[in-house]
Amino acid sequence: MYIVTLLDGLGMAGLENSNSSPTAPSASAQQGWGSSLGFVSAAAGSAIGLGNLWGLTYRVALGGGMAFLGLYLVAVVVLGFPLLLAELVLGRHTRRSPVLATVAVGGPAWRPLGWLFPLSSALILGYYAVITGWVGQALLAVLQGCLPADQASAHAFFLQLSGGQAEAIAYVLALALTAAVVATGVQQGIERLSRWSMPILLALLMGLLLWSATLAEAPARYEEVLLHWRWADWWNPHILRQAFSQAFFSLGLGSGAMAAYASHLGRRDPLPRQAAVITALDTAVGLLAVLIIVPLMSSGAGAGHQGGTGAVGTLFVAIPLGFASLGSAGPPLLAAFFFLASIAAVTSAVSLLEVPVAVLMDRLGWERAATTWITVAVVALLGLPALLSTDLLMASHDVFGGVVLMGSGLLLSLLMGWVAPQHVMEDLSSLPPPLLRGLLLTLRWVAPLLLGGVLALSCIQILEPKISLWL
Ligand code: PHE
Repeated sequence: MYIVTLLDGLGMAGLENSNSSPTAPSASAQQGWGSSLGFVSAAAGSAIGLGNLWGLTYRVALGGGMAFLGLYLVAVVVLGFPLLLAELVLGRHTRRSPVLATVAVGGPAWRPLGWLFPLSSALILGYYAVITGWVGQALLAVLQGCLPADQASAHAFFLQLSGGQAEAIAYVLALALTAAVVATGVQQGIERLSRWSMPILLALLMGLLLWSATLAEAPARYEEVLLHWRWADWWNPHILRQAFSQAFFSLGLGSGAMAAYASHLGRRDPLPRQAAVITALDTAVGLLAVLIIVPLMSSGAGAGHQGGTGAVGTLFVAIPLGFASLGSAGPPLLAAFFFLASIAAVTSAVSLLEVPVAVLMDRLGWERAATTWITVAVVALLGLPALLSTDLLMASHDVFGGVVLMGSGLLLSLLMGWVAPQHVMEDLSSLPPPLLRGLLLTLRWVAPLLLGGVLALSCIQILEPKISLWL
């Protein structure tokens, strides 16, 4: 009754269709999370990743710091939170892996969107594992006492990480570790890892922040990089695109990871509150990472100035260099930083692998461990181009981690806003009506229009690199 009244109020009564939500979970979703905290830790672990540590800082370092962060926060609130909620509803309401879930709410015409989820997750994981391997190697190098002392040796440090046999071994190990966690299962593998690693990550982050923010040069660096106000930056299409892509990648939206995790949830889990906590944690970690890293970067050490290492330079050139300038405190702090980054990377990689694994378990009827190892072998091949060329890695990030994610996010908002709003309303019936109406309005109009605009901008900027100052 309540739902029909609401539908009437929104002028959507005609949209109700007879797709009743399936209740029995599919094979991949049969095992539930041990607790609500376990789910939130795993979802936050998926969201908090290299995107927070590396993506956000290199984008801030490119310039327009304040406008970029402002637009990023707008993107998180206006698009990120509502779409995260929609993706969680898709998984929880259907209790199916992403392809079956999409078909369950939208019908067979939406199957291609369903397949976009495991495809984009596998492609992202391919290059994500390359960077994860670099982080692991960097941690090992620092533990062995290798710390670059100047710009040239920092550059050589990065080149060593990103080439040769060691890089390939680290890549395979990163993928194998990820697969071992996924193969162990949702509760025993993913949840257990997230439950112990997220508190460690947060504690390390707070420790590093206390230390970094009290450095003598911190206020000047914050002022230079973050408090620089220029009206023109707010309308700069490059900054706009970077801010929205970053928000999307950081929350992992459009990859199906959140839907896959939510398929293991029970009816009583308070989705809106959980979505709010995940969004807040992810955003807070990103901002803390910026506050930690900015004081470490010498003036003008933006990502564009790393002598050929490009955007990835911030994490692997500027940061080690910054720590190295701190004397004896440098090595342990840098080791803590790369350990933190390794945790963040692995928990995100796990969620990326879970998407194709869950889909294939349901599709082929295989059991989890076999599906996981076969899937990861395919992913290893998909990531080869990124392993062989840093330029291809960055291009993969722009295309799969940017355009494709935003494209599937746009389709997801159309699906949940126009085709299947009754599922959203049913699932979130405890939400106050004005909030529910706001959510549907966002899914129907705000998200498609904004994402359509940013997608068009992204395509223009990727296809015309010469006009972009940012690439
Ligand atoms: N959000 C992760 C990060 O910030 C990456 C990711 C993308 C994870 C897509 C899951 C899905 O690094």
